[in-house]
Amino acid sequence: MLTNVEHIGIAVRDLTASNALFTSLLNVAPYKSEAVEAEGVLTSFFQVNKTKVELLEATNPDSPIAKFLEKKGEGIHHIAFEVDDIEAEMERLKNDGFTLLNDVPKRGADNKLVCFLHPKTTNGVLIELCQEIKE
Ligand code: CO
Repeated sequence: MLTNVEHIGIAVRDLTASNALFTSLLNVAPYKSEAVEAEGVLTSFFQVNKTKVELLEATNPDSPIAKFLEKKGEGIHHIAFEVDDIEAEMERLKNDGFTLLNDVPKRGADNKLVCFLHPKTTNGVLIELCQEIKE
């Protein structure tokens, strides 16, 4: 089951400058900065009440974020929905004809298991499913 929007991902060219911009905009400092080596991204997370914003900067030219910036420029990159059972949701969505970008959940930033849905099957919006890792 999808429970709520967990965060909104925004692609940025300069994380340091964007951290300052969003700190000013949201009136709160980022609570976390984290590199996800496998994805070639450096992230930072802001939280306002129950809403989170994830800023993403590419760390190499092959990063999906570098490609996104090249094609579309800075802006909203993905919307992440929290799910209570990521494997069950992946199965359900696959059976409903959505294209999943990974067959098994991957470890994402901010202590989450994640799966992305290809934007071609979701009206051009990259959708992330995420489930908190409990250990
Ligand atoms: Co995300």
